[in-house]
Amino acid sequence: MGKIAVYPGSFDPITFGHIDIVGRALECFDGVIVAIATDSQKNTLFTVEERVEMARLGLREKPDVVVESFQGLLVDYVARTKATVILRGLRATSDFDYEFHMASTNKSLNENVETLFMMASKDFCFVSSRTIKEVASLNGSVKGLVPECVERKLKERFEAMRKKSQR
Ligand code: PNS
Repeated sequence: MGKIAVYPGSFDPITFGHIDIVGRALECFDGVIVAIATDSQKNTLFTVEERVEMARLGLREKPDVVVESFQGLLVDYVARTKATVILRGLRATSDFDYEFHMASTNKSLNENVETLFMMASKDFCFVSSRTIKEVASLNGSVKGLVPECVERKLKERFEAMRKKSQR
């Protein structure tokens, strides 16, 4: 078995920023497991099944990538996959505090698991799932920032929410 990295997150929804990180990680690792947290601390817009489906579609052209959901502690999931590396993307210094705490907690839970960071590329350093959702909820265009299947799904979801609130 080669070197495998686990790339965890909420992926609510997957963006081209995430996809760019996976593509570049494949230059460094033999495979990448995109691990979508079932129990995210965040109140997610999409169910875990929807998030997995969008990520699989968005990543379908990349070889050596597996997308699955996980429950419970990330380090326990990583140990079960036999990977030893957690991969996270970093956009700006504002990400650092959160990432530092998460990497330190994971290290204290399992010292055999390393967290590695990859800088977001300049084209996507401003892209986050949170702002994508905000723009889409206000009818703005997110073209070029997320795969088409995600664009469609966001449109459908916010249209349904708008209709429901008008009832
Ligand atoms: O994309 P996100 O929301 O920043 O990802 C955060 C995520 C899902 C990686 C993190 O919340 C996580 O690892 N959750 C699983 C539970 C866990 O292991 N918590 C302890 C580490 S802080």
